[in-house]
Amino acid sequence: MKKACVIGWPIAHSRSPLIHGYWLRTLGIEGSYEKVPVEPQDVENFLRDLKANGYAGCNVTIPHKEAAYAVMDRVDDIARKLGAVNTVYVRGGKLHGTSTDGEGFLASLLSKFPAMSLRDAKVVILGAGGSARSIIPSLQSAGAGQTVIVNRSLDRAEKLRGDMGPGVEARAWNSLADELRGAALLINTTSLGMHGQPDLDIDLGPLPKTAVVSDIVYVPLETAFLRDARQAGYRTVGGLGMLLHQAVRGFELWFGVRPTVTPELEQLIMQDVMKA
Ligand SMILES: NC(=O)c1ccc[n+]([C@@H]2O[C@H](COP(=O)([O-])OP(=O)(O)OC[C@H]3O[C@@H](n4cnc5c(N)ncnc54)[C@H](OP(=O)(O)O)[C@@H]3O)[C@@H](O)[C@H]2O)c1
Repeated sequence: MKKACVIGWPIAHSRSPLIHGYWLRTLGIEGSYEKVPVEPQDVENFLRDLKANGYAGCNVTIPHKEAAYAVMDRVDDIARKLGAVNTVYVRGGKLHGTSTDGEGFLASLLSKFPAMSLRDAKVVILGAGGSARSIIPSLQSAGAGQTVIVNRSLDRAEKLRGDMGPGVEARAWNSLADELRGAALLINTTSLGMHGQPDLDIDLGPLPKTAVVSDIVYVPLETAFLRDARQAGYRTVGGLGMLLHQAVRGFELWFGVRPTVTPELEQLIMQDVMKA
């Protein structure tokens, strides 16, 4: 029986066991996926013992993504660019690490808007934290022409721009209105709008009505920012799809079958989020 897990500290809030448990059940795979609370000082030992403890791999969540990166025997280009991993798998006794948040974001966007092309498009990304860092390489790989990071702390946006390479720019929050002009996609990756945080309150007026507005926050399922954008006539995509789609590759790497994000799975996780 193959087994996998998610490690973090704390870990009680993780919905990954629900997602992978759904796939194990519906695909009829004999396997398990559990939450394991791992304290920061124990991350290295836990990962080094992963195979000995019978795991095919694991997900890594806050605050261990960077620490886990440092323990990997092999990482792919995406993980190297991020300096972080969220998915670990064992191959030939070696620990391999990757990050699937960016592909999860893109897959979620394209599952909702299959005809959308980012080729040569202008994308505005609000925030310069870990999730902005994960998403930008996927925008670049989708051919985005210009990605503008707008962040409260300009120095953080500039540091991220420097790490991401050509086609990426950094701007201060007060230039947002100018940057929205001509954008095809606006993404909120700040924590604003998350349960317990103030709402993200910006004027979408300069954003073309043809643009897609995305918020990666998924608690609540629809933030006030996203609701306002939808009511103003924009096409919108919330954060739940990213959470579900980022899980696909890990499952495939550990259990050998590529799972599908079904409406039934979406409903299951929506119900769990609404309980929170
Ligand atoms: N859907 C998914 O699968 C998924 C995956 C990962 C994360 N998320 C969500 O994404 C959000 C961000 O996660 P993260 O890991 O990127 O967080 P992070 O690394 O802590 O970054 C937070 C970002 O929010 C900005 N911010 C915080 N408070 C602000 C305020 N009052 N005004 C303006 N900007 C503010 C920060 O700006 P400064 O740089 O100026 O501090 C920073 O850019 C969280 O809500 C998380 O739940 C969703």
